[in-house]
Amino acid sequence: MSEYVVELRNATKRFPGVVAMRNMHLEVKPGEILGLIGENGAGKSTLIKSLTGVHQIDEGQIFVDGVEQHFKSPNDSANAGIACVYQELNMEKLLSITDNIFINKWIKGKNGLLDYKTMHEKAREVMKSLGQDVDPTKAAGTFGMGIQQMIEIAKAVLIDAKMIIMDEPTSSLGEKEVEQLMKTCRSLRDRGVGIVFVSHKLEELFELCDRVTVMRDGEYVDTRPINEWDNDSLVTAMVGRTLEQQFPKEYGVKSKEPLLKVEHLEEMGVLRDVSFEAYGGEILGFAGLVGAGRTETMRAIFGADKIDGGKIYIKGKEVNIKSPRDAIRAGIAFLTEDRKGQGLVLAQPIVTNMVLANLKGFSNGLFLNFGKITQVVAERIKELRIKTPSADEIAGQLSGGNQQKVVIGKWVNTDADIFIFDEPTRGIDVGAKVEVYNVMNKLVKDGKCVIMVSSEMPEILGMSDRIIVMREGKITGTMHRNTDNFNQEDIMKAAWEV
Ligand SMILES: Nc1ncnc2c1ncn2[C@@H]1O[C@H](COP(=O)(O)OP(=O)(O)OP(=O)(O)O)[C@@H](O)[C@H]1O
Ligand SMILES: [Mg+2]
Repeated sequence: MSEYVVELRNATKRFPGVVAMRNMHLEVKPGEILGLIGENGAGKSTLIKSLTGVHQIDEGQIFVDGVEQHFKSPNDSANAGIACVYQELNMEKLLSITDNIFINKWIKGKNGLLDYKTMHEKAREVMKSLGQDVDPTKAAGTFGMGIQQMIEIAKAVLIDAKMIIMDEPTSSLGEKEVEQLMKTCRSLRDRGVGIVFVSHKLEELFELCDRVTVMRDGEYVDTRPINEWDNDSLVTAMVGRTLEQQFPKEYGVKSKEPLLKVEHLEEMGVLRDVSFEAYGGEILGFAGLVGAGRTETMRAIFGADKIDGGKIYIKGKEVNIKSPRDAIRAGIAFLTEDRKGQGLVLAQPIVTNMVLANLKGFSNGLFLNFGKITQVVAERIKELRIKTPSADEIAGQLSGGNQQKVVIGKWVNTDADIFIFDEPTRGIDVGAKVEVYNVMNKLVKDGKCVIMVSSEMPEILGMSDRIIVMREGKITGTMHRNTDNFNQEDIMKAAWEV
């Protein structure tokens, strides 16, 4: 028997033009939570997909309980006891929780028909053991991300997985859901399951993991018990250099008149009397809890949701925005929090994605100006440090974090005056966050207005000139940089207290 439940040795995985993983190794003990961290494109998802049989490694070996495995498919890996909750959940949203859990593993009765009574019972039971008291007959899509993730974990528990891999499981969860997930991870660990936990949030790794493995550029860097890592050593191991400054705040010149003015915005049951102004040359942060109405406010301004009342002025003129197309024409760019759904054409190359929002700006009259396109796109790739063999790479083949950078590049390439960034650094590694902040700095120095919705307190405090706090669809506070109440405690008060 081996000391490890799963072991990867000397593994290499090549894609056309890229070596995604080179001579990598990873060891997971039963009953431990092993953190896995690395920059966007470092090869974390590739490693995971090699262990789950989605990819076949070109060189190297995989062992489960000391026995060498040759996974030809995800089924082989599942049969060996490895389960995975992927970065992009693959849930059948219209099917019930029970169907999702028992898909391809149906329980049949004596008559040969599906035994839904038993399956519902088991589904309810296992979800309850994960802290979720839900009706398993309901469609999975009617529940939030937290519960959908628990459904994936429930599948793993039901096949008695020896090891469960979670690829950035917390990136779209609220605070409460993250807590529940951590509780679940700990209880699985205590039952002897090995867990691999991928996250870009260092605090999470420190709170949850027993050991952390770092990879960089597809290669192994180091593994240490958690108490032998600290913030600095982790970041240095990840990015291969020390990070000069986490929040490189710079200042623009605030415009005399607001670029955007919102008056008495109303949306039934969602927004109440939301009024604010946003200036050129400033980063205006929007803080608040998940569900406070920040995204809804931005969607309303962008014409994505219908409003029941209120006025919007751009550069002093009232505008009537009925659709995102109107908003773009009025000079608003909106980087949505749901990048997969609304930001990117996955089947198209980076270059196409980056010019899509501004075809007019990239043409001379009738024809596209390919010289300009090539130059500008190359600049963005460099500036945002997008890890790709070339601008012609298909967006869907980039790592998750690099896809997000492409969306940022796309909007920066428009000639908008007002940039709304909704959770701009979610799922982005610490090094790349700094690149995104520098892009914001550049925009405000050019006199543009940046509105940043963020749930990350250090980011809001580190980068905003002014912060608006929302709670239950209303604005509950405004804080100016360099004044007394520009601090975490006062923001939390405005976000929480009734
Ligand atoms: N199917 C594929 N075809 C071609 N290249 C790929 C494919 N999958 C991954 N790559 C490349 O392999 C490298 C590693 O990507 P991977 O998705 O493993 O990174 P990651 O560490 O998970 O990053 P992130 O934190 O952004 O999710 C990247 O350069 C990526 O573009
Ligand atoms: Mg990934």
